[in-house]
Amino acid sequence: MKLLMGVFGHPVAHSMSPVMHKAALGELNIEGSYEAYDIGPEELEDGIKSMKSEGYRGMNITLPHKVAVMDHLDAVSEEAEAIGAVNTIVNENGKLTGYNTDGQGFLDSVLEQVEDLSGKRVLLIGAGGASRAVAVSFARHGVKELAITNRTLSKANEIAVRCKKWCDSRVLPATMAQAAFTGYDLIINTTSIGMSPDVNRMPMSLETVKRNALVCDLIYNPEETRWLREAEKKGAKTLNGIGMFINQGALAFEMWTGKKAPREAMKQAVLFEMK
Ligand code: ATR
Repeated sequence: MKLLMGVFGHPVAHSMSPVMHKAALGELNIEGSYEAYDIGPEELEDGIKSMKSEGYRGMNITLPHKVAVMDHLDAVSEEAEAIGAVNTIVNENGKLTGYNTDGQGFLDSVLEQVEDLSGKRVLLIGAGGASRAVAVSFARHGVKELAITNRTLSKANEIAVRCKKWCDSRVLPATMAQAAFTGYDLIINTTSIGMSPDVNRMPMSLETVKRNALVCDLIYNPEETRWLREAEKKGAKTLNGIGMFINQGALAFEMWTGKKAPREAMKQAVLFEMK
């Protein structure tokens, strides 16, 4: 039976998910399809109903529906509940369950570089949806400390409160975060500042970064991560968001197909498309 999958978003034309999942289906010789559906907020409920009635196995959910979609599902995983957003739906004989693979996807890409996070101090810059997913996944995995800084501190505080039951989590105003910069092993930019055409805009100064720190930016276009190039010059290791994107898709693909996702083929397809 043909495996039907796709992504709901608005807008969604720019999404790399179809290219990535089609590559995975092709690599494993699975008969299936993965299409992007541009669905506005008022169409979401009907979209979910059709997903069920037409026998879709799975759907990715992207902006702006990640939070609103939770109201239309039969169940939500513990992790997605903790994050407060869903990016993947699995249809099990008509029962729709929501998951969130964004945070775990990023965590997996970090674990490819840093095996043991248990003694590490992590600084997150930004407190939007992406930050929330990453914060919850890191906190649940177990890190020594999670500090969150953001232009709007109340949003950082909301995330820190969410993460308190798993790890030492705190909010730092930008000046304090900058002063304590040298103490962090992992520094993760989750804001869109790196996408600014103004190349002098940096999420934070890297002047005092630890030499062996891992500096990450969730942006996945390498051209847009000038901040990471600065980090390299300071002797830090760097990681962009490409691994997060591949891994969040791979984790969803594995839930839908029950097969190990061909991550390398997926990555190559995305990199080719980005050229
Ligand atoms: P996403 O879902 O990708 O995380 P988002 O929810 O819109 O996107 O969050 C964007 C993040 O980038 C927020 O932390 C935002 O800060 P505020 O919470 O104060 O709005 C941050 N951000 C965006 N533009 C910024 C700028 N020019 N300066 C500082 N922070 C910025």
